[in-house]
Amino acid sequence: MDAFPTLRTTRLILRRFQASDADTVQRLAGGKEVAAGTFLPHPYEAETAAKWIAQQESFAAGSALTFAIVLAETHQLIGSIGMEITTTHEHARLSYWLGTAYWNQGYCTEAVQAILDYGFTHLSLHRIYAPHFHNNPASGRVLRKVGMTYEGRMREHYIRFGQFVDVEIYGMLRQEFMRRRTDAR
Ligand SMILES: CC(C)(COP(=O)(O)OP(=O)(O)OC[C@H]1O[C@@H](n2cnc3c(N)ncnc32)[C@H](O)[C@@H]1OP(=O)(O)O)[C@@H](O)C(=O)NCCC(=O)NCCS
Repeated sequence: MDAFPTLRTTRLILRRFQASDADTVQRLAGGKEVAAGTFLPHPYEAETAAKWIAQQESFAAGSALTFAIVLAETHQLIGSIGMEITTTHEHARLSYWLGTAYWNQGYCTEAVQAILDYGFTHLSLHRIYAPHFHNNPASGRVLRKVGMTYEGRMREHYIRFGQFVDVEIYGMLRQEFMRRRTDAR
């Protein structure tokens, strides 16, 4: 696979995680509100961040691509966005989180748009999908804003913090992404 990509949007840079990000990852990912929408461990220990960053090397195997989301202006790390790629099916599952201080400013939407563009045009994926917990409407809003289609609910699909949770699924096909891009021009 090519060298790790760096993606740029109006306000963000999506780059490879580096070992020096570990303290910030621990602080941002350690928030209970962030954990609630994800399967991030909670509490989030210092060594967890370092180990997790080291694991991002699996990019070399082509199965996962996780970017640090940083503000273009200050290079402040604000969160993470990634794709787990299944090459057999030419599809990828999206996941993301941001530190709470950065919520509701459109950053996740901007990052997801960049990832969709990279996944469909550079990786030639056929489909990108994203599950989110039913009790996490902000995530669903992000996925609708980027034009993904609501595909349904898996009832009580996961257990999080001891409770069964429904999971909502959104997806987009490459042809839909391309059509949307053409229409936007
Ligand atoms: C989900 C998450 C990544 C969204 O990031 P973000 O940068 O705040 O997202 P954006 O600002 O691009 O968009 C958020 C949208 O949700 C809306 N929103 C926020 N809270 C909401 C709520 N309780 N109900 C409905 N909509 C809500 C915002 O108003 C915004 O929509 P708008 O632009 O139409 O006003 C962030 O909340 C997060 O990190 N949560 C914890 C981790 C997580 O849940 N990850 C997703 C796993 S699937």
